[in-house]
Amino acid sequence: MWYRNLGAGFMGNMGWFSAGFRMICWLCFVVCVGGIGANWGTQTSHPLSPNTVVRMLKNNGFQKVKLFDADEGSLNALKKSGLEVMVGIPNDMLAVLATSVKAAQNWVSTNVSGYIDDGVNIRYVAVGNEPFLQTYNGSFLQTTFPALQNVQGALTRAGLSSQVKVTIPLNADVYESSSGRPSDGDFRSDIHDLMLAIVKFLSDNAAPFTVNIYPFISLYSDPNFPVDYAFFEGNSSPVIDGTTSYTNMFDANHDTLIWALKKNGYGNLPVIVGEIGWPTDGDMNANPQYAQRFNQGFMNHILMGQGTPMRPGPVDAYLFSLIDEDEKSIQPGNFERHWGIFTYDGLPKYQLNLGMTKTGGLVRAPNVQYLDKKWCVLKPSVNLDDSRIAPSVSYACANADCTSLGYNTSCGNLDAQGNISYAFNSFYQKNDQDVVACDFSNLATITEKDPTTGTCRFEIMIVADSGMSWNLPRVRDHGALLVLSVFLQVIWTPL
Ligand SMILES: *[C@@H]1O[C@H](CO)[C@@H](O)[C@H](O)[C@H]1NC(C)=O
Ligand SMILES: *[C@@H]1O[C@H](CO)[C@@H](O)[C@H](O)[C@H]1NC(C)=O
Ligand SMILES: *[C@@H]1O[C@H](CO)[C@@H](O)[C@H](O)[C@H]1NC(C)=O
Ligand SMILES: *[C@@H]1O[C@H](CO)[C@@H](O)[C@H](O)[C@H]1NC(C)=O
Repeated sequence: MWYRNLGAGFMGNMGWFSAGFRMICWLCFVVCVGGIGANWGTQTSHPLSPNTVVRMLKNNGFQKVKLFDADEGSLNALKKSGLEVMVGIPNDMLAVLATSVKAAQNWVSTNVSGYIDDGVNIRYVAVGNEPFLQTYNGSFLQTTFPALQNVQGALTRAGLSSQVKVTIPLNADVYESSSGRPSDGDFRSDIHDLMLAIVKFLSDNAAPFTVNIYPFISLYSDPNFPVDYAFFEGNSSPVIDGTTSYTNMFDANHDTLIWALKKNGYGNLPVIVGEIGWPTDGDMNANPQYAQRFNQGFMNHILMGQGTPMRPGPVDAYLFSLIDEDEKSIQPGNFERHWGIFTYDGLPKYQLNLGMTKTGGLVRAPNVQYLDKKWCVLKPSVNLDDSRIAPSVSYACANADCTSLGYNTSCGNLDAQGNISYAFNSFYQKNDQDVVACDFSNLATITEKDPTTGTCRFEIMIVADSGMSWNLPRVRDHGALLVLSVFLQVIWTPL
């Protein structure tokens, strides 16, 4: 029943709102709340240009953006955009920043001061990303707090300490409640002292606590999790905590943190929700309907401006995520590449009213350029028993993206031929429609007929921004592909 500490409140739907009241809410939202933010991750093989992404952020009324590093292209595009920026320090940099004051000073000087001078509105530095996740086996327990201290020291030395605040985006598993009631919330026992030291440091520097809250993950990891409790329309068996009744996981989880802070003497520490969202593919509970229901429910919940039972008032939050990232690790699950409210090429996935645009809908990315209307598919003449198929599909999936294949996903209803074609096409598109990437020991062929069916989109990649550097190794040259194709033939041609 651990999830019971991860709950939320009945707000009903917004149907009864009068237009006038909506307007007041909207004004209050923009003025008092400071607006909604978005996470902008860049682990994609074919990124939209940074300028296009900044246009999307502006056109959709986002006022804040959170980055996972200090990517030069992203930060340059954010110059004079007016958007508030949280820059990030990846976990793999924590060790050096923890041990070297000089490294922290260099980081701040290059990645904060330099951009502020150029008109980037940097307001936060996120030191690490969920460094205390239990799956990291404690790898960052020693380095995160010293890195935080050194970065703060460097900001102070640069004269930026009142303008730029440090924080650590933490996973919600840094706190827990033994009874499941928010009022029994406290920091995880194995890191209790460390958390207190961090919280005191944040408080001393007027910096916020940042937490990522994911009802989807609770549903994903616990088949008995009550589905309605993940959303915002009420729940028949709420968590009763004294006089408070929690009917949604967001409120209950958030308030478990507020109780943990309060219990340790920091009940007024500002809290930022660094990531919140719902994926659309790669799992039976990851689909556009659920994502729409969750994200719209969350937006309506915070647009009303009354916060959670323990923290009335505006909620400062960043949606996760703006766009899909096809090169994220799928170690957490196949859904990991599908968190975007937009597809990788900047199309809205579903109707979502952020309360910011005139139409009340999402605005697609402008001027996106696609590769040719060509797809790679399995040759119709190939026998499905051909022993070269399996290794070819494995190779394609390992190097491209097959996370939309599988039980109850967007391409879950393809037949065997469709499955194979999907994998081949993914690899072909990822390699910019290179003819050599549509060979697979002569099993594959290029077609101009779109194989897309129903919910299953056979993607065409976009023309990658020429100013962008590839951040992961890719099979780009013919030489490598030819070697591969010969290799597959040698190894898997039936004897
Ligand atoms: C600035 O940030 C970038 C991107 O995260 C990183 O690669 C670089 O090492 C940082 N610069 C310094 C001086 O630490
Ligand atoms: C954590 O430990 C487990 C089991 O020992 C191991 O499988 C896993 O790779 C480790 N993860 C990291 C990030 O070190
Ligand atoms: C897929 O999931 C939806 C709801 O999550 C369910 O209604 C539907 O029956 C599932 N489809 C299959 C083929 O299992
Ligand atoms: C298609 O691929 C998925 C995932 O690899 C698999 O679960 C499914 O059984 C395949 N379907 C067919 C018809 O081969």
